[in-house]
Amino acid sequence: MIELSSSKQFSGLITVPSDKSISHRSAILNSVAFGEAEIKNFSNGDDCLSTLHILSDLGVNLNIDNNGDYLNINIIGQGYKGLSNPNTLLDAGNSGTTTRLMSGILSSLDFETTITGDNSLNSRPMKRIIDPLTLMGAKIISNNNKAPLTFKPSKLNGITYKMNISSAQVKSCIMLAGLNSSRKTIIKQPSLSRDHTERMLKGMGAKIETNKNDIIIEPSKLNSIDLTIPGDISSAAFWIVGALIHPNSNLLLKNVGLNELRTGIIDVLKDMGGNIYIENHRIQANEPVGDIRVKSSKLVGTEISGKIIPRLIDEIPIIIVAASTADGPTIIRNAEELRFKETDRLLAMSKFLDKSNIKHQLNEDGMEVNGNSDFIGGEFESFDDHRIAMSIAISSIVAKNKTTINNHQVASISYKNFYKHLELLKK
Ligand code: S3P
Repeated sequence: MIELSSSKQFSGLITVPSDKSISHRSAILNSVAFGEAEIKNFSNGDDCLSTLHILSDLGVNLNIDNNGDYLNINIIGQGYKGLSNPNTLLDAGNSGTTTRLMSGILSSLDFETTITGDNSLNSRPMKRIIDPLTLMGAKIISNNNKAPLTFKPSKLNGITYKMNISSAQVKSCIMLAGLNSSRKTIIKQPSLSRDHTERMLKGMGAKIETNKNDIIIEPSKLNSIDLTIPGDISSAAFWIVGALIHPNSNLLLKNVGLNELRTGIIDVLKDMGGNIYIENHRIQANEPVGDIRVKSSKLVGTEISGKIIPRLIDEIPIIIVAASTADGPTIIRNAEELRFKETDRLLAMSKFLDKSNIKHQLNEDGMEVNGNSDFIGGEFESFDDHRIAMSIAISSIVAKNKTTINNHQVASISYKNFYKHLELLKK
């Protein structure tokens, strides 16, 4: 439990933790590639540690150096065939990305494995990966389409698969299975989601083409690549909103990943009147990166729906915080996927707003937030969800009374030093 107070100022410079999505992919892909890779600035969040544990259980040769803020990792990959029988349950903890990406690999191996996780993970939908993998020839035993998932030894064939939801985890799972199958795989996405896997695979020499919403991938041998992971825009999002809603702020966020399929949050907040400026734009690890400057702003309500949703799916809880203080209503639609995250994030944020006396309407696929409200503080649940805990923590910097958050430590899933950084910025 933590008790947080408001502050007179919210200013300074922060280097946000490394991108969680890119970190997972850098370790997983280099483990099934051939050669030695140096990965610098790998995320030390609990989710990415779960990925490293699983790879190590599968016999991958990993050398990890922890400098406190980041991990630097040396991986020697020996292809899919270099993986060995773990003779233990693979524990993905709280990490959906670990489970879904690793399932693409595990389904194509010639020994049996089982992947499982905590209560939250084991209640999340896995049919979305079981269906395409089964079509490819995988033999998967599940608990009613939920984890634990057991993969019997299988040989996979390529397929053409039309996805009915836009999900980077699902498409990455199918790509990882397709790489170790017998034929070409074509994935048809309803709309674009983050393309870190596609970018990294291209850099590793995979036979992969992208054409509008389609991905065409052929069985390929991957070459290891060295990478320096950029900062996570999904972590930066908390500080961006904090600076916008605080009346006395000036913030610089260094080295943040700015992949176009992740920057929906910046587009929306600018649209709401946010003073956000990108400096020092550059390319790192085949991903756009820059520094973000943010200042106090008068926000106005907006409408968020359709194709932008996958570009900001993880940022909707913190957008709801911004929308609460904005002038006029904000309407969020087509965001039903939020109900299947670490917790039902629409319901969790609605309960937070209810307790804060902030007028809103919860809908099946989104929320209408009235705006023009002040946070009053109080005692809140994190629902054991890192992004809910951090969103509530940001509201505390402008709340009238103290804000208490239960199981606040869950932030370490993606952001180990979140509360330390929060105190650094409060003056
Ligand atoms: C992720 C994809 C998204 C996102 C998650 C990370 C990834 O999930 O919410 O935090 O790294 O591929 P979906 O693919 O389920 O939308």
